[in-house]
Amino acid sequence: MSEQNLKDTVAIIAGGAKNLGGLLSTTLGEAGAKIVVHYHGDTSAADADKTVEAIRGAGSEATAVQGDLTQVADVRRLFDTAVDTFGHADIAINTTGMVLRKPIVETTEEDYDRMFAVNAKAAYFFIQEAGRRLSDNGKIISLGTSLLAAFTDGYSTYAGGKAPLEHFTRAAAKEFADRGISVNVVAPGPMDTPFFYPQETPERVEFHKSQAMGGRLTKIEDIVPIIRFLATDGAWFTGQTMFPNGGYTTR
Ligand SMILES: NC(=O)c1ccc[n+]([C@@H]2O[C@H](COP(=O)([O-])OP(=O)(O)OC[C@H]3O[C@@H](n4cnc5c(N)ncnc54)[C@H](OP(=O)(O)O)[C@@H]3O)[C@@H](O)[C@H]2O)c1
Repeated sequence: MSEQNLKDTVAIIAGGAKNLGGLLSTTLGEAGAKIVVHYHGDTSAADADKTVEAIRGAGSEATAVQGDLTQVADVRRLFDTAVDTFGHADIAINTTGMVLRKPIVETTEEDYDRMFAVNAKAAYFFIQEAGRRLSDNGKIISLGTSLLAAFTDGYSTYAGGKAPLEHFTRAAAKEFADRGISVNVVAPGPMDTPFFYPQETPERVEFHKSQAMGGRLTKIEDIVPIIRFLATDGAWFTGQTMFPNGGYTTR
């Protein structure tokens, strides 16, 4: 059995400064991967610096890059940074996303365009650039949502905006297969980060908890080992969507 480790691999982690992406950056960095830590807003710059320092403190290398990934030039710059700084790129993980809970009849054209730009367009061009720039046997992982397996109201532009990821992923898995590149979606349950709460009421949070094993939300610590597995020994998975969510939804 082949055992793949992360030592001296180069990982690009979009949204890699904080929350799920932050823990992913430090975990892969501690295992020896060199990390390009992407962040978006100016308010995330301090998190990016802390994450880079933590990786360097663990003995690996890291660099931070700011970018609005709805701009294709910014997506390409991330991959340029990886190759220019570390010589190659092996793993590309896109944790970026934007959530909105709003009835369809109240959703504006601006809401729709923004939600699809962040959740679908940015994800598409991230996969495209990864397919062009990753080394053979590379890994591409995008973050979906367990709402892709739910039948619920309010999240039309969030779940709808993430839904195309599955088809981008299937096509990419076929198109990049001859180079041994695996492509997957990880779609967590409602996760205990600041991303989740502003859209929900306390009653709904309790309901979400009640739908998973142990009556709790998904934690970032539940998800990171699964992504790490896909980035190493789990490479035989490709074209798939996984729902790590304690049984919250399935299909
Ligand atoms: N928390 C949940 O309940 C939950 C459940 C299932 C799936 N997910 C998915 O898991 C992923 C990580 O979520 P999280 O909970 O860890 O929250 P998070 O840290 O807020 O992740 C979202 C990231 O997207 C970035 N982003 C937003 N707009 C962007 C743009 N135009 N260009 C580039 N980056 C942009 C944000 O950067 P700034 O903050 O700097 O703008 C942030 O780093 C997301 O894709 C989310 O959809 C979350």
